[in-house]
Amino acid sequence: MGTDELREGLENVVVAETRLSRIDGEAGELLIGGYPLEELAPNATFEETAFLLRNDRLPTADELDEFRERLASLRSIPDAALDAVRAAAEDESESAMDALRIGAASLSLARDDEDPEADSLLLVAAFPTIVAAYWRVRSGGEPVDPRPDLSHAANYLYMLTGEEPSEAEVRGLETYLNAVVDHGLNASTFTARTIASTESDLVSAITGAVGALKGPLHGGAPGPVLETLLDVHESGDAESYLRQQLDAGERLMGFGHRVYRVRDPRAAVLSDAAERFYAADSSGDEAFFETALETEEAAVDLLAEYKPGRDLETNVEFYTAVLLHGVGVPRELFSATFGVARVGGWTAHCLEQLEDNRLIRPRSSYVGATGREWTPIEARE
Ligand code: ACO
Repeated sequence: MGTDELREGLENVVVAETRLSRIDGEAGELLIGGYPLEELAPNATFEETAFLLRNDRLPTADELDEFRERLASLRSIPDAALDAVRAAAEDESESAMDALRIGAASLSLARDDEDPEADSLLLVAAFPTIVAAYWRVRSGGEPVDPRPDLSHAANYLYMLTGEEPSEAEVRGLETYLNAVVDHGLNASTFTARTIASTESDLVSAITGAVGALKGPLHGGAPGPVLETLLDVHESGDAESYLRQQLDAGERLMGFGHRVYRVRDPRAAVLSDAAERFYAADSSGDEAFFETALETEEAAVDLLAEYKPGRDLETNVEFYTAVLLHGVGVPRELFSATFGVARVGGWTAHCLEQLEDNRLIRPRSSYVGATGREWTPIEARE
């Protein structure tokens, strides 16, 4: 028997068991596959993290080689999928997330049978190719073919620019991909699991997840964060810039979180990674990183002044903007790059759902009319 108690937004309702990630919002701790985020994210390759989520353990050296090769062999997308992504890039109104949704849906053209395991690899492997192809065409160039000899992260940057990235850029991007690969039952992951629970196929499940991630309430804050940082970097006065925003009733992007009451642990990992990147890479601008630190400090102080007792702290999006900007990912691709990472979590969640599947089917509480009598169309006014 069900209950008619309404839980708007399913807040705090537990609808799945998972071994993929555990969030402690009070302590500000995140485990990925059992490992503390701050250990995993800066050390693992993205391939190791994706393997961990699928197999619940880290790979041996041989297993990692084989997994890398399998992923690398699936990077090219079918011509028809590339044409669809190209069409999106040539249409000014289509964003990178639109192109990712179109490209993801087209990946069913790359397979002969529906097989969850094989589909999950294909999706993880092909996402960077779709986003990079969109960007190349959107910026007036031609897509760059993937290179199987490069790592997943290095190849993504290579396909964006046509140039081999530096080690510091690869490490920075890889840390980002690992840090956001999975995060409990967020809206897009729930969408993917719901579609998988109908025993539909994984291409459909992940296409739906991309649609959920596109929404500004889910994956859209780092772009505006970068705008703030570039403006503050120019003006040199974080406090008055942010005060103006708050006085105008605006929210400070990159701060506050539904689950975390303390600094988001991903912000800490990404801040450390950004600091290392800006110090190590000759193209990195250390002064820009200093601006980010000053802006964060000013924002946290001002939020405590304007919203006392709300515990508004830095979230993942703040240092996402700093790090992705540093490693050379264009602002227009921030959300789609989130998808390039999160597809590792989405696909693992779908496989987990299918291990012991039960159709996800909640109820609604009816609030409409009752007892109406049918009126023939001629008699309606
Ligand atoms: N700046 C200013 N005020 C804020 C902010 C912020 N960033 N975040 C929350 N507040 C205020 C709200 O105005 C509200 O104040 P009020 O009660 O006086 O009106 C109070 O804090 C509580 O806000 P809610 O919206 O109820 O908090 P919720 O938990 O729903 O919000 C959210 C979480 C959406 C992330 C919010 O903090 C926000 O809009 N932040 C800015 C956008 C952002 O950074 N988004 C990325 C989040 S990370 C991610 O989702 C991956």
